[in-house]
Amino acid sequence: MRYVVALTGCSGIRYGIRLLEELDGERELIISEMGRKVLDEETGLTMDDLEANAEEIYSDDDLFAPPASGSHRFDAMIICPCTQSTLAKIAAGISDTLITRAASVTLKEKRKLIIVPRETPLSTIMLENELKLARAGAIILPASPAFYAEPRTVDDMLNFVVGKVLDQVGQEHDLFRRWG
Ligand SMILES: Cc1cc2nc3c(=O)[nH]c(=O)nc-3n(C[C@H](O)[C@H](O)[C@H](O)COP(=O)(O)O)c2cc1C
Repeated sequence: MRYVVALTGCSGIRYGIRLLEELDGERELIISEMGRKVLDEETGLTMDDLEANAEEIYSDDDLFAPPASGSHRFDAMIICPCTQSTLAKIAAGISDTLITRAASVTLKEKRKLIIVPRETPLSTIMLENELKLARAGAIILPASPAFYAEPRTVDDMLNFVVGKVLDQVGQEHDLFRRWG
């Protein structure tokens, strides 16, 4: 499996880092400019620290990179976490960054697009954008850890959300205890 994984300038960028660590297969990583800043702000990590968990890293302003084209084959794109700004652009069909272009390609090629928004509360504009993308075929998977899995650490909460993403791409995992 080949994945395009995008990290944007959201609080909770650790969700994306955890996902990169857990995802089996080839990982093509794109981080937005704000994503890099939040990465530094919330974790102190740099791009060099992420290199071990990605086969390729592309710049978000490189619209010549392979994921910008529908002829580049990948199985799914996961935007984790996804800002409301990036989500709104995708919903509006704006493709002026590699992340938004790759998402647009994913939708038009009818491939799996998993979007993990992290924002609360949500305005009606945000809700409408999420609905529009869900109707267009995207999976909207909010970063909202459940408590039935009895999380004890932040890592447990990250694992729940990342596990739900892995469920969507059909990857076996034991990141959280399932109900029942
Ligand atoms: C520390 C920090 C945390 C942020 N957290 C969020 C967030 O959780 N959700 C969100 O939608 N935007 C958040 N933002 C705002 C986005 O970073 C901003 O809208 C930016 O333009 C998004 O750019 P991008 O989508 O290209 O990454 C945050 C900004 C900062 C500085």
